[in-house]
Amino acid sequence: MPSGPNDERVHVVDHPLVAHRLTELRSADTGPERFRALAGELAAMLAYEASRALTTRPTEVITPLGAAPGARLAPPDPLVVPVLRAGLSLLDATLTAVPTAEVALIGLRRDEHTLVPSLYCDTVPPELGGRDVFVLDPMLATGGTLETVIGMLTAAICLLSAPEGVSRLESAFPGDDPVRIRVVTAAMDERLNDRGYIIPGLGDAGDRLFGRI
Ligand code: URA
Repeated sequence: MPSGPNDERVHVVDHPLVAHRLTELRSADTGPERFRALAGELAAMLAYEASRALTTRPTEVITPLGAAPGARLAPPDPLVVPVLRAGLSLLDATLTAVPTAEVALIGLRRDEHTLVPSLYCDTVPPELGGRDVFVLDPMLATGGTLETVIGMLTAAICLLSAPEGVSRLESAFPGDDPVRIRVVTAAMDERLNDRGYIIPGLGDAGDRLFGRI
């Protein structure tokens, strides 16, 4: 688990370019095509913050004019794990930001009434061998999804978060717990409604990305 100057559990990325995009993303007037583009642009910015503590090893690079000191991402390669289906919207941009990353998938279905998630797809290797793992889940709402996958977490990249989800993670994994989680998010909203949606939020991220199926 990387540590560093941004070692707090929840890091809200307070940046004008993030705030500008998030506002357009939330808007009910934003259609699916633009919504997908904005989700990707935000993911790139959040991935940049989430990956700040990846380790590098020094190297030398030959420029047209001579040798220069450089740095390359050190092995083992990080793992990026989008939570199906909405997490796919953050994948391309995260892979562009973290070019050495490999991908595994997690699929969780949330019971509409109890909101309890159950796993229907898991391609995460059983042995992670010290790899950094970035879980992609646009909406940190109840925290149930992240609690389920937390054992493998280095950082969760979430476009929006709710205090209830963060509290749930904090009580499930208190500060002195060996599983140290870090959530990198563009905003902490007010609350959840009785259907587990983030308020004011942006609605159903999966539907806004991919349509209702
Ligand atoms: N998932 C969503 O898509 N939206 C929410 O507000 C909460 C969970």
